[in-house]
Amino acid sequence: MFDTVIKNGTIVTARETFSADLAITGQSIAAIGTDLRGKREIDATGKLVTPGAVDIHVHMQMPLGDGVISADTFHTGTHAAAFGGTTTIVDFVDTKPDETMLDALAKRRAEADPQVVIDYALHMTIVPSDMDKLHQLPAVVAAGCGSFKLYMAYSFRLTDDQLYRALSAINKVNGLPVIHAENWDIICQLQREAIAKGNTQPRWHPRTRPPEFEAEATGRAIDIAAYVGTPLHIFHVSCQQVVERIAAARARGLPITGETCPQYLFKTWDAFEADGIAGTLPTCAPPIRDHVQQAALWTALSDGHLQLITTDHCPFSRADKARGLDNFTRIPGGVPSIEMRFPAIYSKGVLEGYLTLNQWVDLCCTIPAKLIGLPKKGDIAVGYDADLVIFDPTKTVTLSTETLHEAVDWTLYDGLEVSGWPTDVLSRGELIVAAGVAKMAAGRGRFIKTNGTFRG
Ligand code: URP
Ligand code: ZN
Repeated sequence: MFDTVIKNGTIVTARETFSADLAITGQSIAAIGTDLRGKREIDATGKLVTPGAVDIHVHMQMPLGDGVISADTFHTGTHAAAFGGTTTIVDFVDTKPDETMLDALAKRRAEADPQVVIDYALHMTIVPSDMDKLHQLPAVVAAGCGSFKLYMAYSFRLTDDQLYRALSAINKVNGLPVIHAENWDIICQLQREAIAKGNTQPRWHPRTRPPEFEAEATGRAIDIAAYVGTPLHIFHVSCQQVVERIAAARARGLPITGETCPQYLFKTWDAFEADGIAGTLPTCAPPIRDHVQQAALWTALSDGHLQLITTDHCPFSRADKARGLDNFTRIPGGVPSIEMRFPAIYSKGVLEGYLTLNQWVDLCCTIPAKLIGLPKKGDIAVGYDADLVIFDPTKTVTLSTETLHEAVDWTLYDGLEVSGWPTDVLSRGELIVAAGVAKMAAGRGRFIKTNGTFRG
């Protein structure tokens, strides 16, 4: 007799789809078979049973300065994630100039630990003021951060020599570098030219960040990584030009991976034409592009040229977005997608024929966990954490701020009909969403150490 048995479901993993019962003992998957019996039994007839989804790119309560902070706390953001079937997230640590990386990690954990309702891990960010702290990387890895975020954009970007030094240091500790790749110098020049001509409206945000310079930066980062001999993961790919750089690198046998996000797969830059504050809301970087680029990203996922889907969930309130109404360069960048990602990728990706069921699970659950080094997450197998989603393919949800649980006063996807939605979600054996109702206590989630040892 097991603690819990999910009966009569269709189990979907990255490899196969089959009918079976799934048994849980304590926090782990204990057996997969037929006629299993449990003290608690959940009937999953007509439903899919998938691994809990893993989102390795989120920004909860991220301060931007001047009182602007991303709207979801670790509590509200993980609560919303759970409703959408995401059971593990990876957020970020930012070290202040006068702090050690370990102190910064301890502070970020102290913010997250009492709030999280699902498990989480953290990437360590390396900015120019961290360049004299690279000797701390072995201690950072030992403390559980096996991946490192590098920026080629914004005021805190790394120059190429700093990028080379950071990648070399990460490689020495077998860490995984993850990168925001855009050519910042050219973007700044294009922004200055636009503003000088009076082109201040939000529609100029994507037009001053052309795909060529996302691709140029990506290619440069790949070349430096290849010289150093390190793997590299490319964050938030928005265009075909970057897909081509990643595909070419992988064809040369380089351990390069790339992700894209729902905002690039469901929205186009037409959204910037909306009047008033609405036109500021889609601002994120790299920018949301046109329908041709969107189609190319779906094809890249389908063909395996992009390896995973994350959200880059980073919501700012309408009031904060409005700060850039008269000058698009001042709009806080970031959009919310954490709750809709897993079901919406099923709804469009699987139901419209871009992805198989197994690719859906691979892109949203299995590869993200493997990439970042979360050994017991993202798959269904005996011994894995019982992080599971019971997914009703017939349940339809129309996205809005009323149906979503994110703590932000807008959604990019207002009115989008999503076919298929989680009804029950388990995190380490605990039923945290039961028949669509939350059962999760703040602080029940755990910090999970990552080992970042994925090599292609
Ligand atoms: O605009 C974006 N993507 N904001 C979040 C921070 C980042 O650049 O990933
Ligand atoms: Zn991000």
